Amino acid sequence: MIDLTTIPDLRGWVRTRRREGRRIALVPTMGYLHEGHLALVNEARRRADVVVMSLFVNPLQFGPTEDLARYPRDLPRDRRLAEERGVGALFVPSAAVMYPPGSETRVVPGRAGGRWEGVARPGHFSGVLTVVAKLFHLVEPDVACFGRKDVQQVVLVRQMVRDLDWPIELAVVPTVREPDGVALSSRNAYLGPDQRQSATALSGALQEAHVAWRGGERSAQAIEARMRRFLEACPDVQVEYIAVAEPDALAPVAEAEATTIVALAARVGLTRLIDNIVLGEGVV
Ligand code: PAF
Repeated sequence: MIDLTTIPDLRGWVRTRRREGRRIALVPTMGYLHEGHLALVNEARRRADVVVMSLFVNPLQFGPTEDLARYPRDLPRDRRLAEERGVGALFVPSAAVMYPPGSETRVVPGRAGGRWEGVARPGHFSGVLTVVAKLFHLVEPDVACFGRKDVQQVVLVRQMVRDLDWPIELAVVPTVREPDGVALSSRNAYLGPDQRQSATALSGALQEAHVAWRGGERSAQAIEARMRRFLEACPDVQVEYIAVAEPDALAPVAEAEATTIVALAARVGLTRLIDNIVLGEGVV
């Protein structure tokens, strides 16, 4: 695995691979890698010959009161895991490389960016899409891999790829979970042992939704109410939103279908967690 920190070096490495006729996959990350990220690498390797992983804690996607400074980081461990899993190039730019003084252009997300996380975290998706757009331009990957855990991000990246006619295939990789159902997230590192236990409430509530759907419930309102009742019984968990939505633009639905997305955000202590399922699949 080669370590790259500058844009000319990244472009040079990619150009050589392309001249060799290799198919290139991009796995964008903010580091502090877990099995969820490594599942993206596995998928990238299935779909391409070489994998570029970017590791950049993108300041643009953090609000002024968010956890940019304390976002967990462990570059030596990330390097080792990426290399073991077969990443070909690890791109770790500084903020000055990605956003040199005078850099001002931002991507404006599509309509789905105004819901859910977009309400709770103004500017977040503009920051995400700006860095993803920049990475797409630098790497020009054949395929880019994203986790379904961040389903709203997936929807917005898909919309951007479509709107800007990027010839990039998107691979959406299922959420990786702990045995107790908790979705892997770098932010789980903030949870104390009791909070870690409380965090099971999120996947528990999603499972409730799935059980209701399997039992014949089709009303989105009833499914949401059932989830709220479940979460009210979890004292450390403060629900921010529950959404029952169609999968293309995340518009709310009244009647649930197998492809409907059920998503939620909740605070466990000070830590904000998100999770979602496809209703017909449940917590898998
Ligand atoms: O999903 C993430 O980790 C980030 O939002 C991404 C896509 C790497 C952009 O910074």
